[in-house]
Amino acid sequence: MSTKRVLVTGGLGFIGSHTVVALQNEGFDVVIIDNLSNSSIDVLGGITQITGKNPEFENIDLREKAAVKNFFDKYPDIEDVIHFAASKAVGESVTNPLLYYENNISTLVYLLHELNKKENAQFIFSSSCTVYGQADRLPITEDAPVKEAESPYGNTKQIGEEIIKDTCKTNANFKAIALRYFNPIGAHPTAEIGELPIGTPQNLIPFITQTAIGKRKELSVFGNDYPTEDGTAIRDYIHVMDLAEAHVYALKRLMNGKEQKNYEVFNLGTGKGNSVLEVIRSFEKVSGEKLPYKIVGRREGDITAAFADTTKANKELNWKADRSLDDALESAWKWQKVVQKKEEQENES
Ligand SMILES: NC(=O)c1ccc[n+]([C@@H]2O[C@H](COP(=O)([O-])OP(=O)(O)OC[C@H]3O[C@@H](n4cnc5c(N)ncnc54)[C@H](O)[C@@H]3O)[C@@H](O)[C@H]2O)c1
Repeated sequence: MSTKRVLVTGGLGFIGSHTVVALQNEGFDVVIIDNLSNSSIDVLGGITQITGKNPEFENIDLREKAAVKNFFDKYPDIEDVIHFAASKAVGESVTNPLLYYENNISTLVYLLHELNKKENAQFIFSSSCTVYGQADRLPITEDAPVKEAESPYGNTKQIGEEIIKDTCKTNANFKAIALRYFNPIGAHPTAEIGELPIGTPQNLIPFITQTAIGKRKELSVFGNDYPTEDGTAIRDYIHVMDLAEAHVYALKRLMNGKEQKNYEVFNLGTGKGNSVLEVIRSFEKVSGEKLPYKIVGRREGDITAAFADTTKANKELNWKADRSLDDALESAWKWQKVVQKKEEQENES
């Protein structure tokens, strides 16, 4: 059992919180940095409830360079970082690009600046399959070309990867892995933590669960004239706990010196694509709810299909996504019911 202390930035967010659970379950001690800009302090309680262990927490805004330096002065032993903190709303990034370049790029640079001073450092970066755009070939392998970004958000992931790669070139003791996530969904099976979208959800699954619970009138399915079997768009939906566990495998690869190069990229997906209508049918099956939906026009910027070739992650990280779409949707539905109950209790008091 390792007792190494790992920094998880954005550790109270959706993917970060599940990864903290996975790390603590593997015996790691975790320090979380989060500025609560897209999360709640209550998530800490959820993590503790699941793991029986309290992560340390620092409420720091990573855009403050001096605060980042002070953090590493306070925790000089930390040399392993999983960096989730970022802004992630594609639409907002189009209307407010500078917010995205500051929050997703400056924060990264400040962290790397501090890690670069260390004798050894290991860094895991949250990247995205958005870097591939509409890939020419499916499933998508890691060597598929990076396409021109469709949004400032997507661009921050491409630039982020470049910044890390350049840092690795100049410092052999700095090791990094960029993980390109496909579509993370679901929640921890205990429903102690899950996804907490603020405002109208941007992603399909929270929209589905909020519609099923009666918070939204109906789901809009954007386009049924794509060149796919049922005409709706296809994505690779991965259970957030599978995704979270992959981070532990990636970190151990670096800690144990198993990397082939000091900068590596891995796809994290299931390797299987599901259409929007398949997701709806799976949700109806596991929840027993009938989902009201209507077909509307395509949404600008949406691609037809994306799913991962997971061979590299399966072989080299020795990791595989095991949980099914049904499992993920069941956990998302359980979580939605917990959120609804909490909201009702808050409204009553
Ligand atoms: N969710 C997805 O579908 C998806 C897909 C691909 C990549 N990603 C990437 O994965 C990472 C995590 O995504 P998520 O869905 O968990 O997002 P999230 O918004 O739930 O979590 C991000 C966390 O970072 C915190 N944060 C943001 N800016 C900060 C700052 N300046 N200082 C300190 N904390 C800050 C937020 O409060 C939040 O808790 C992001 O980098 C995102 O771009 C997400």
